[in-house]
Amino acid sequence: MSSFEGERIPQHIAVIMDGNGRWANQRGLPRLAGHRAGTENIRAIVSEASKIGVRYLTLYAFSTENWNRPSLEVQGLMQILSDFIDRETQSLHEQNVRLRHLGRLEGLNKLLARKVERAINLTYANSGLTLAIAFNYGGRADIIDAVRRIVASGIDPAMIDESMIEAHLTTAGMPDPDMVIRTSGERRLSNFLIWQAAYSEYWFTPVFWPDFRPEHLHQAIREYGRRERRFGGINEAP
Ligand code: IPE
Ligand code: IPE
Ligand code: MG
Repeated sequence: MSSFEGERIPQHIAVIMDGNGRWANQRGLPRLAGHRAGTENIRAIVSEASKIGVRYLTLYAFSTENWNRPSLEVQGLMQILSDFIDRETQSLHEQNVRLRHLGRLEGLNKLLARKVERAINLTYANSGLTLAIAFNYGGRADIIDAVRRIVASGIDPAMIDESMIEAHLTTAGMPDPDMVIRTSGERRLSNFLIWQAAYSEYWFTPVFWPDFRPEHLHQAIREYGRRERRFGGINEAP
């Protein structure tokens, strides 16, 4: 069931899709089979998030540190992103989903980078869920890139404030994630949205990403409704 009437729905959910490798290991399959199964799972979660009324869904798909993996796995992950765009863009467009990319496009091969740009341009004017794919994304790299752009603009250092940093991150214009979900039992951020998740609520599940179902999303959202967010202040008792 997916009715959350009267409940607080996170406007922006960010997911660290972890555990593809272990999911495959458990089945005696190669790691890439886990990545493929994980990618297959995205469709159902996007559609459910959209149905529930979530406005922004960010998925961590490849970190700046994931380049340290064996080159066959890295190449496989690039191919999987390319296939995902080929297979899913049209249907996401029809669902009024707006695609965004977070991270460094420059690090990807030119064909793949162009493919990502085309998908973003096609869906640019869509007004439904924003689906942000963090691919070749690292929170630290994103802050470095923002600082570089700010310095290059020749701005007076006294003018630098939070909103200026935010406007130069690849998440510019997106609200901070209300909730960060991580699958597979790990409880760390692994360089994901380190600036934006300063006041996010965290939800962890032992479930591996390919096994993450709409019910798990519902559980997370219910739990979110029970959390008390204070942002450093104090909430007056009713
Ligand atoms: C997450 O699954 C996907 C990527 C990091 C690309 P993993 O590949 O990290 O899976 P585990 O953590 O090894 O099980
Ligand atoms: C984080 O998972 C990156 C993604 C899910 C894309 P990792 O599996 O790379 O993180 P660590 O190495 O366990 O911290
Ligand atoms: Mg992992």
